[in-house]
Amino acid sequence: MDKDMAIEVRHITKKFKIFYDKGHTMKELVLFKNRRKYEERLVLDDISFSIKKGEGVGLIGRNGCGKSTTLKLLTRIIYPNSGEININGRVSSLIELGAGFHPDMSGRENIYINAAIFGLTRKEIDAKVDEIIDFSELWDYIDTPVRTYSTGMYMRLAFAVAINVNADILLIDEILAVGDARFQEKCFNKMREIKARGTTIVIVSHSLEQIEAICEKSIWIEHGKIKAEGEPKQIHKQYLEFMKNGYIE
Ligand SMILES: Nc1ncnc2c1ncn2[C@@H]1O[C@H](COP(=O)(O)OP(=O)(O)O)[C@@H](O)[C@H]1O
Ligand SMILES: [Mg+2]
Repeated sequence: MDKDMAIEVRHITKKFKIFYDKGHTMKELVLFKNRRKYEERLVLDDISFSIKKGEGVGLIGRNGCGKSTTLKLLTRIIYPNSGEININGRVSSLIELGAGFHPDMSGRENIYINAAIFGLTRKEIDAKVDEIIDFSELWDYIDTPVRTYSTGMYMRLAFAVAINVNADILLIDEILAVGDARFQEKCFNKMREIKARGTTIVIVSHSLEQIEAICEKSIWIEHGKIKAEGEPKQIHKQYLEFMKNGYIE
């Protein structure tokens, strides 16, 4: 891969199996295991795109079009059925809220665990932990178990960790929809700041405005394919027009 590239996705296809007969008993599942009916849903159909180092990219498209699936593939939480993904750099992601948090451990312990999984040493985390806590504004709660946190508190902790591990590539999925307006604004400003430092950012957001303010490129996914990609304002105009004119599922 070209050394100016951060992400290269080549001809990936992703299918999910949808089972019809959920909720059977264990006995039935064992006796009739060959009869379980399922349908294969093709979510991403031979998609290719590339993202340059330091670039900001927004993924857009209607609900269920495969935005989160794409981010999960980039994080390697899931794998494609075919095709290739090359990543140049360390990835930090904020994809499923609270995934990777241990409910019975405190916020502080979770910071250590998450940052260690990312690859930071104990010493490196010691040096950053105060900054992470400050960003999260969870000072009074940082030593209580995260199972007692509200969704907003969870999100603040997750965001604070993800953006403070000095990743080369940051993947963010609709996370800014959680939390109050002031904190959203703070996260948004922080994203611009780390982008200005050269971090590659890929975001899924319902706020097209936010994408326009931070990204050089938007990729629009529709029916398993990339329908259009390019300058965000232009792509969003086409997208809004398309959605307004109605569509057939
Ligand atoms: N683990 C899974 N098993 C089965 N179907 C899934 C799974 N994850 C996602 N899907 C399906 O794949 C499609 C794309 O989902 P997703 O990537 O979450 O869409 P988006 O984030 O664009 O709203 C949807 O139809 C969804 O139901
Ligand atoms: Mg999604």
